[in-house]
This record gives sequence, structure tokens and C-alpha cells, in this order.
Amino acid sequence: VIEYSLRPRYLAEYIGQQQAKENLKVYIEAAKMRKEALDHVLLYGPPGLGKTTLSNIIANELGVNIRTTSGPAIERPGDLAAILTNLQEGDVLFIDEIHRLHRTVEEVLYPAMEDYALDIIIGKGPSARSVRLDLPAFTLVGATTRVGLLSAPLRDRFGVVSRLEFYTVDELTYIVSRTADILQVGIVGEAAREIGMRSRGTPRIANRLLKRVRDFAQVKGDGIITVDIAKIALKLIQVDDLGLDEIDHKMLRAIIQSFQGGPVGLETIAATIGEEGQTIEDVYEPYLLQIGFLQRTPRGRMVTPLAYQHLGLPMPEPK
Ligand code: ADE
Repeated sequence: VIEYSLRPRYLAEYIGQQQAKENLKVYIEAAKMRKEALDHVLLYGPPGLGKTTLSNIIANELGVNIRTTSGPAIERPGDLAAILTNLQEGDVLFIDEIHRLHRTVEEVLYPAMEDYALDIIIGKGPSARSVRLDLPAFTLVGATTRVGLLSAPLRDRFGVVSRLEFYTVDELTYIVSRTADILQVGIVGEAAREIGMRSRGTPRIANRLLKRVRDFAQVKGDGIITVDIAKIALKLIQVDDLGLDEIDHKMLRAIIQSFQGGPVGLETIAATIGEEGQTIEDVYEPYLLQIGFLQRTPRGRMVTPLAYQHLGLPMPEPK
């Protein structure tokens, strides 16, 4: 319940993602003026950047209901048909992890998105026939961390495709202050900035770090989050000054120490440090690429000189 109330509910409260926000604002306003359903929206980008939050905001701004589900949760075509036939005119259907929809389910979605229609087969064998049911006009909001895994026909049916970007330190600092206000915890500006700097461009991480730092402030201090408390707490929870955690360190060190800095394949790295390749690719790698610590090459991942410097490890001699 508290978790939900931390989320901004309207575009005006939503910090960052300027481009996505400005464009969405126009599309929402235009759809409302025409009294039509908003065109389908695809949101993609690394986890924790606000895809779910934005989908709820879209529904709030449109003044419609939102029905939330996820790709893997919709097991059979009938499950999707049940959801679609229960929507009201103009509603938002949010499908998280939309790249994990079953093929058979995806096929039901095509006519639903394109014509607001549901094709159902009645009967079996030679007497089987297809009946087309009208659906209410609705807006599908799809979210994914892996836009490349979407089939072309599905991707092409979204009228709005928006990539969410990592947040700036200023934006994260603001988000930390905003969340602290909601949680009614005192925090000095410099401490909010310290947390913002160590949040890997990601509001979900910023809010998580804030809560953990708050615990330390409460138990070890007087409840106010000062910059000293923040630094001590972040050190204890093993988040370094760029926001890298134990797994980032493990991964970079493994590439350097076991594979001479790379290039090395993702699955090899994964096996070496005992993580899922998928998790590395979705959760850890995007930020390391963004800050220039890692490069993707056709032959695998390579650590850059910046990463050696940050870890205090010597660069190998040129061969
Ligand atoms: N909390 C988490 N993400 C946020 C955002 N983008 N704007 C405001 N508050 C947030």
C-alpha cells in the first residue's frame, strides 16, 4: 500500500523521461479531445525506470480504468479473451513483460489491437466457423525490458513506442527528496544527492537505498538522514560511490581476472559468477554499458580501462 503511494499518479508529478512525457501528454490530450481510445503504447527499457508507473499515469490522465497483467500470466487464448471482453470503452490494458506472451495468445491480440475484434472458432471439423466479436475500444500498454524479443507483427501494432532512459543525478536527487517527504523522514540535500549518485540511474534503486539508509538513521542516528549517515549506511550495504554492488564487482573482476578483460561470452560470464545470463543482460549490464565500464563486441563483453581504474586493478600489458 505504501509502495503504491510512493508512485506519482499524474504526469505533472512524474520526474524525468522528459521526451516520453511530453509526447505522451500530447497524445493523451488529443485522444481525449476526440473522445477516442489512446493508441496502443509500448514502453521499453531497463527495469526500475517507471514503466508500470507510467502505465498507471496514462490511465489516470485518460480518466479510465486500468487492468494489469503480464505476458507469462496469460497462459491460454481464452484467458486473454476473458480479459478483453471485460474491458470498458477506453480502458487501459497493461501487459508487463509483453515479450513473454505465448504465441497462441499473441495471435488473439493482433485483431484485438487492430480492429478491436475477437475472432473465435465455434465448433470443430468441417462445421467449424469463425465468429467475430466486437470489443470495446481500448488502449494496450505493453512494457518490456527486451524490445528485441518482440515479434515484428506485435511491435508494429503499437502506435506509440517509447524508450525509457536512465535518470540523471539531479532527477534522482529530486525523486529521493520527494520520496523522503512522503515517508516523512528528514534528509539533508547533500544526502539526497549522495543517494541519487549511487542509484544507477534508476528510481526504484534510489527509493530502495533511501529506505535502507533511513533504517540506519533511525537506529544509529537521530532519524535525520545526514550525508555522514548516508555514506556509512551505503558502505555497509556495499554500494560503492558509483552505485555498483557486489554483483557488478564480481562480474567485472571475473572478466578481468579469468578472461584477461574479455571479450568473453555472456553465458560464460554467467556461469563463472553463478548468475543467470538473462539477469546479467537485463539488470546488470545496461548500466555498466551506460557508464562505459563494459562494451559489447561481436565476440563478447569487454571491460574498459575506466572499469580497471574504478576497481583499482592494473591494466594488462599490451601484447
Ligand atoms: N518515484 C519513482 N519514480 C519516480 C518518478 N519518475 N517521478 C517521481 N517520483 C518517482
